[in-house]
Amino acid sequence: MKRIFVNIGKLVQVENREAVLKRCGKEMSDLDIIENAYLAIDGEVISDFGSMETLSRLSENGVEYWLENMADEVVDMKGAIIMPGFCDSHTHLVFAGSREREFIDKIKGLSYKEIAARGGGILNSAQLLHNTTEEELLRQSHARACEIISFGTSAIEIKSGYGLNPQDEIKMLRVAKRLGEITPLTVKTTFLGAHALPARFAGNREEYVNEIINEMIPVIAAEDLADFIDVFTEEGFFSVEDTDRILNAGMKYGLRAKVHANQMSFSGGVQVGVKYNAISVDHLEFTGEEEFALLKDSDTMATLLPGSTFFLEMEYAPARRMIESGLAVAIATNYNPGSSPYGDMRFMMGLAALKYKMTTEEIINAVTINGAYAMGLSESHGSIARGKRADFNVIKEIPSLDFIPYSFTSPLVEQIWIGGVKI
Ligand code: NIG
Repeated sequence: MKRIFVNIGKLVQVENREAVLKRCGKEMSDLDIIENAYLAIDGEVISDFGSMETLSRLSENGVEYWLENMADEVVDMKGAIIMPGFCDSHTHLVFAGSREREFIDKIKGLSYKEIAARGGGILNSAQLLHNTTEEELLRQSHARACEIISFGTSAIEIKSGYGLNPQDEIKMLRVAKRLGEITPLTVKTTFLGAHALPARFAGNREEYVNEIINEMIPVIAAEDLADFIDVFTEEGFFSVEDTDRILNAGMKYGLRAKVHANQMSFSGGVQVGVKYNAISVDHLEFTGEEEFALLKDSDTMATLLPGSTFFLEMEYAPARRMIESGLAVAIATNYNPGSSPYGDMRFMMGLAALKYKMTTEEIINAVTINGAYAMGLSESHGSIARGKRADFNVIKEIPSLDFIPYSFTSPLVEQIWIGGVKI
């Protein structure tokens, strides 16, 4: 089916010149917009776009000509804004149940680490997941996937990490993969066996790392269940040495690195991530000049997760200094039951403005093209470009683009198109 969308008020994040895979530093202020535009799609992909003026020049007969020669359907956008679907590059969306009791403990004053040390946290989710069938896990996760689609997200990364044994890690990854088949979302999967030390290995982390390397990675790679491998590199979780061993083993099986880095301390997670050419290092609340310099010279995306910083009431990552140091920054939801129980990229955009002091242009780059890069998807997602997947959101009439992070709880996304289909 060929469709042409005409009279678009603003077509946002277009790639008019050479292909852009990510935007770094000052370039994060670049946001190409065509005013009064058209967008043509052919099946699942974008076939063309430009200004209405160019389109009108094709024929004096307008709509009739386009219908005959360019499209099966002409959709009049009546001045609405179109922008790419959001690319959420860090989530733990596959989980069982919920953890609101820990939320109450937190309100009563317990820290994230104290809750974890009492058997709450990730280990609590692991127990819940262990007691949940694959079918039920899929049902619960599917509901969350549908919810985030309704917020305007069209591509997502989903991690394992609440299994913590071979069977349950595989169960999670299978469910994540299924979500990519039964929903319109593009899904990339990440194996995060090293998310926490399971109780059966208490006091013997090395043995668990051996299990990850010798028993989990080979099976997950053989079944093609993951695109990436990740480690929670933090005191009380996994050391830099553990991370090094795990990323090295994953790399041998073709799994590109990601790292939960520097969330609660200067953990060395950035250093080991860059050493393994990680596609992204995520969190980064505790980073400074040394980390910025390493990231600047690397192909690694700095992915920030303001939702969990907000929920855990911690210090925000130094986003402004990162951008001023020339880094590429992506923003993701970190949707998970413990530290970010929401998957709404619009809320992240509001937080990015308020807490990171990012401009609207920087934020849009961070949630589209840079998010796509952090999932290895920037050749197919994250901007309006010929040949890219036709994933876009129609935004209702707003006074300016700044209204998006400003009015972040308003349901501004009026229509969602994924793979050329209206959802
Ligand atoms: O990114 N930091 C590690 N993992 C998650 C939290 C997961 C949980 O508490 O269940 C995070 O914040």
